[in-house]
Order: sequence, then C-alpha cells, then structure tokens
Amino acid sequence: MSLRTPLCELLGIQYPIVQSGMGSAAGPELAAEVSRAGGLGIVAGLGVTADELSRRIRHVRSVTDRPFGVNQWLHTELRPPVDPARVPAATTRAVQTQLNVFRERLGIPTTHAPAPGVPDLIDEGFAVILEERVPVWSIGLGNPDAAMVRRCHERGIKVMAMVATVEDARAVEANGVDIIVAQGGEAGGHRSTWLKKPREEANVATLTLVPQVVDAASELWKKRLLESDGGETTLTEAYTGLWARSLRNRFTEDYADSGAPVLPTLMQQRAAQDVFAAAAQQHDPEYTALYAGQSTGLVHDLPGAAEVVERIAREAEAVLVSLRAMGGAR
Ligand SMILES: Cc1cc2nc3c(=O)[nH]c(=O)nc-3n(C[C@H](O)[C@H](O)[C@H](O)COP(=O)(O)O)c2cc1C
Repeated sequence: MSLRTPLCELLGIQYPIVQSGMGSAAGPELAAEVSRAGGLGIVAGLGVTADELSRRIRHVRSVTDRPFGVNQWLHTELRPPVDPARVPAATTRAVQTQLNVFRERLGIPTTHAPAPGVPDLIDEGFAVILEERVPVWSIGLGNPDAAMVRRCHERGIKVMAMVATVEDARAVEANGVDIIVAQGGEAGGHRSTWLKKPREEANVATLTLVPQVVDAASELWKKRLLESDGGETTLTEAYTGLWARSLRNRFTEDYADSGAPVLPTLMQQRAAQDVFAAAAQQHDPEYTALYAGQSTGLVHDLPGAAEVVERIAREAEAVLVSLRAMGGAR
C-alpha cells in the first residue's frame, strides 16, 4: 500500500501532489520547495516575459534536479490579447466610474482613461518552455492545439491541462494532453476555461467533476486566509474580467452591487492596477485580490511548502491504512 500511482510514474515524482501556478502569490522558490519535497512544483508563467521565465526556470534547476512544471494561461482572449480600442467607450466609463469609488476611498486620483492593453507573452513563454525542455507544461484556462502538444512531446515534455467541465476534459484529451486536472467549483482562483462561460457553468464541485472526468503569500493574505472559513469566498469577475474564486471583501461586494460591467480578460486588472497598488501600500485587504478556495476553512496554521507535501502524503497514507483495516481497500 503506497501513494505511488501511474501519475507519479509518468511524472517521475514521489507523491501525486501538484502545486498550482500561483501567478500572483508565489515565486519559483515555492515550486522548487514542492518538487524537492517529492511533489510537482509549478513555476508561474502568467504575464511573465521570456527572460523572466528563463530566470525562474534556472532558479528551480539551481535548487533541485527533481521534475517541475511551468504554467501558462492560454485563454482565447489572450491569444492575442484583446485590443483596447475594441472596448466600447460606455463599458470603460462604467468600469472606471465604479473603480473611482474605490480610488476615492483609498485617496488616489480618479480617472476615466481606457485601460492599457495586456502584453502578448504566450508565444515567447512557450518558446522558452520548449527550449529549456522543462519536464511538464502546465496549462490553466486553455486548450493547447495538437501541434503545440506534439512539439512538447518531441522534446520529452509532458502536457498537463486544468479543466472545469467534462466537455473541456474531452476537448483537451482530443488534442493529446497527457494529464487532465479537474478543477472543482470550490477551487481558489480563476475558473479554468478558455472561453468565458456563464458564472455557474464552470462551477462543478470536485466530488461531482472528478468521477466524470475519470500557497506563500503576503502577510495580509496569510492572515485573512487563517481567519476565514470557506463560506467567505465568492466568485467574482471584478479583478480580472474572468470568474475567479477569492475571499469576499469591499471590492468584490461593492463592485457586484454596482452592476458595472467588466473589461475583457486581464484588461480589467490593468484598469484597476492603481487601486490594487494603493491597497497594498495601505495594507488594506478590502481592495486586494485575495484568491482562495473554499478549502481555506481547513487551513489553521502556516506550515512551509515541504511540510504541506509531507502532511498531505502522511494523511493520505493514514487513510489508506484505515481503509485497509476496514477491509475497504484492495
Ligand atoms: C492564489 C492563487 C493563485 C493561482 N494561480 C494560478 C495560476 O497562476 N495558474 C493556474 O493555472 N491556476 C492558478 N490557480 C488555480 C489553482 O490551479 C487551483 O484551481 C486551485 O488552487 C485549487 O486548489 P484550492 O481548492 O485549494 O484553492 C491559483 C489559485 C490561487 C488560490
């Protein structure tokens, strides 16, 4: 009886524990620590230039020779990013009007200017992943085309895609990905779909989804996570323009109540950058994106990444032992 699974064998890791990209919350140190502890650490690649991505990959390799992955978002609105000129002026006005409410509360200048465009970084990041022959290409919010998967396979790179619906699981499988991660509705962060779906459509609980498909952050964030239970999370599109699960705060609630629309993928985030920067400077959790899953209710202390991997493995082994004792495990 052990935690060795076909997934471990496929990836060459000790435990089937995969850490997510954590784009906004953690650097390559976390990925390296998780891989060193026997899980699969994932380097965040979202919004990162090719040079920075290479630096992160080199950092992980300088710490460990265990397998790791690099995560990219492949959302259709990022390939290429939506041209800000295509956003109707009325949408920009409505978004900025609501953001100005927050700017006034935080004491920073108001604006009605269009949001800056999102940089086009996916192709250059993918080229680095191929060149560096990273062990695993991890995809959030996207379906890689078959040619991209083939180019990875030619270099011995495994492809792992996260999906939130059964339909999307079938689609990524058809394009040849090696590993499908089922993201349940309780998961923290963005709904992993490549087209923005209605709020409830990519919100299936893990226990329902999985059978069908067969952490280091700022002090503020850690403190709020420890204080909160899972019921305090919400699905909001106010941070990036896409549905994401985060802790409820004034930003998520007042934005929703205002009825303001949102800008396209990540452009919304760029429009509100000054609000987030001011909130960070003022240590104000009410206007900070605190992405978190419903599992925050289960978090009561702050162990290091290696200890999290060890604890998960230890607890899973204990469950296997008790199942065997009950005669329930083969
Ligand atoms: C703070 C945070 C950052 C995340 N960053 C990424 C990311 O960069 N790329 C990605 O594919 N998923 C990202 N995710 C989503 C996770 O892959 C996944 O859905 C979630 O963490 C599942 O675990 P949970 O239920 O414990 O939150 C992020 C989630 C959180 C909470």
